[in-house]
Amino acid sequence: MLDIQKIIKDRARENVALHQNINPQFAKVLKTIGFDKSYVKALGVSLFDADNIEYYDFLAGYGVFGLGRNHPKMKKLFRDFLDLDTPSLVQMDAPLLSGLLAERLVQIFGHNIRDTVYFTNSGTESIESAIKFVRGATGRERIINLEHAFHGLTTGSLSVNGNAEFKDGFGTLLPSDTLPLNNLNLLEEKLKTKQYAAFIFEPVQGKGVFVPDQTFLQNAITLCKKYGTLTIADEVQSGLGRTGKWLACEHFDIEPDIVCLSKALSGGICPVGAVVYKREIYNKVFSRMDRCVVHSSTFGQNDYAMFCGLAALSILEEEQLIQNAAKMGKSLLAKLNALKEKHDWIKEVRGKGLMIGIEFQKPSGIKKKIAWELVHKMDKGLFGELIVMSLLSRHRILTQVSGHHQDIVKMLPPFIINETHVNHFVESLDDVLTNCDKVTGPIFTMGKNLARHIVNQNT
Ligand SMILES: Cc1ncc(COP(=O)(O)O)c(C=O)c1O
Repeated sequence: MLDIQKIIKDRARENVALHQNINPQFAKVLKTIGFDKSYVKALGVSLFDADNIEYYDFLAGYGVFGLGRNHPKMKKLFRDFLDLDTPSLVQMDAPLLSGLLAERLVQIFGHNIRDTVYFTNSGTESIESAIKFVRGATGRERIINLEHAFHGLTTGSLSVNGNAEFKDGFGTLLPSDTLPLNNLNLLEEKLKTKQYAAFIFEPVQGKGVFVPDQTFLQNAITLCKKYGTLTIADEVQSGLGRTGKWLACEHFDIEPDIVCLSKALSGGICPVGAVVYKREIYNKVFSRMDRCVVHSSTFGQNDYAMFCGLAALSILEEEQLIQNAAKMGKSLLAKLNALKEKHDWIKEVRGKGLMIGIEFQKPSGIKKKIAWELVHKMDKGLFGELIVMSLLSRHRILTQVSGHHQDIVKMLPPFIINETHVNHFVESLDDVLTNCDKVTGPIFTMGKNLARHIVNQNT
């Protein structure tokens, strides 16, 4: 029998080498930036490597681990559930668990206007489904998306990506137009043509953590209604409590036609996604009995994913984790803003709840300015990368740069963090930025070495 415990113990440190069979380029990047760790255990906010060194996870699997990793209740409930031997994926039946999860999703996310749910296996599949639904429901093909938008990387969701780097090299995608955030005039100009099936947006953008002006989305939705364009809120990352509310849409008091979910709905165990949408759209797409499976996916309503969705929602409520995300987010934002007063490397700290971005800028002081310019000459996204690398190497905190060629670092910690985690993060960033002031110190030396390494690798 497979002895996975022994295998993990014996082969833990082979992890990066084994990725020769998966994505060697990514393995190379991990090595280059010092992210080639061998994590063997994960609990709550913490990851542990093969030497039992603890790391704070402020990345949360790109937002999957709202509950934290291996949440004890989630584990117990899932184990007990496996023992029930439920009849998953019979296919020609109406599964109880997907019915129950749909009922909960409509109660929580429907707000009395969205009463239909389509289940998926990932974020991008939720977006693909929404794109197909709006095309089917309106008979129109074009979609409007925003600059910096990220909705996934399969062909349909890639079509509505607001970053050219992702699209380059993949040929003609679905017809779509990318508009700047907060520009209602341009939006109306496009909508007037009545060619657009939908306007898709993230209420808080994942790439760069750009937050729309308070009234932009409300006005945009009013315009969309006027011109017969449907609205899709991509809450794959921002939903389920990440921003301190069930939906980030609630911050802007908006009700889109379609809400896409995934990530934290998994409870960190089983991939799952959902599209919560209006019945009138369903009626147009699944319009007759012979079209009842005009859109479907084999694993879509599997019992394990449905169960994890139900369990995750119940734990979020029982442990008041959304309230905690709001409270900790407020504290983190306030403390980071205070840090901004001390370090003029920081241009802006922004976000909602525990979806927070720190944008950096050219500082004052001649030496620091030169260091900034040199780093940007080497690579436009290098400064943010140096901050992320230093947070990991000096303080064992996992974060990410947010988007290409931007001086933005992003935090997506689990909703269970407390003031100790917040303070540790803020003190660590303080230390990293203090070290940046020493322009001949370790951080810029690391930048030079990294740039040299990249050049060598590419030649
Ligand atoms: C806002 C948003 N939409 C869609 C996706 C795609 O989700 P997935 O990676 O599960 O396909 C992501 C992933 O990061 C996301 O952040």
